[in-house]
Amino acid sequence: MARLRAALAARGLVWPAPLEHHESLRSTSDVVRERARAGAAEWTTVIADTQAAGRGRWGRTWASPPGGLYLSTLLRPPPEAVGLLPLVAGVAVAEALSEWGVSTELKWPNDVLARGRKLAGVLGEASSSASGVEWVALGIGVNVGAEDDSLPPSVRENATSLRAETGGSPGLEEIAAAVMVRLTVWYDALRLRPSSVLPAWRARAAPWWGSLVEVHGGEGPRRGRMRDVDETGALVLDVEGGGSVRVLSGEVERVRLVEAGARDPERG
Ligand code: BTN
Repeated sequence: MARLRAALAARGLVWPAPLEHHESLRSTSDVVRERARAGAAEWTTVIADTQAAGRGRWGRTWASPPGGLYLSTLLRPPPEAVGLLPLVAGVAVAEALSEWGVSTELKWPNDVLARGRKLAGVLGEASSSASGVEWVALGIGVNVGAEDDSLPPSVRENATSLRAETGGSPGLEEIAAAVMVRLTVWYDALRLRPSSVLPAWRARAAPWWGSLVEVHGGEGPRRGRMRDVDETGALVLDVEGGGSVRVLSGEVERVRLVEAGARDPERG
């Protein structure tokens, strides 16, 4: 952790909470959840070299071979900040990775893509009580590719890495420090200047506005044209027959043209 603290200090940040490094564990988010239940301070952060049971959104596995960045941090957001937190995390990661010259696009709510392939992912796991969200374990995984070809072939098809995109792989501490600094900056913005969040997210979003998409997940499949993301962080879709729906969670896929041609009235 000394190297990470030094990298943070070089960026002018003294980390305000415990920082833990593990060579190997099941999931950094599991440890953060344990710390949260024990009353740990906001920003308590856990980093691991590998994860035996890394998880992604929607119950997927997050392959976690050595050479990637696996980081989870504990946040206790005010209620009004919860909806936009996923977007803020995506912006922070995208901004951090742009330091290495990689051009990224955000896919709602917070997939970080490069050339359409997944470069990084964010998983927010909240614990709520009757009075609302008490804490969020925010997990971030970045495919760095420092030890390339270690991702399983099934993942490699749709994924990319910093090394594949830039030809280099910066030190993990440098990447972690960049991500952590941008996260603190955007988390402050979320609380103090929430109106700055959506423009920043839109500016980095994949330009799918007006495209026909399908959203799978929490609220069941939804199909419509991507109109916008609203001030609560919900995705707004214009649906067939008129009107719009707000989607609070899910996985967005663009409907392929061939299929859209068959079903999309605007395409006959
Ligand atoms: C996604 O599906 O896009 C989210 C992936 C999140 C992976 C990170 S790696 C660190 C933290 N620990 C986990 O088990 N998952 C998250």
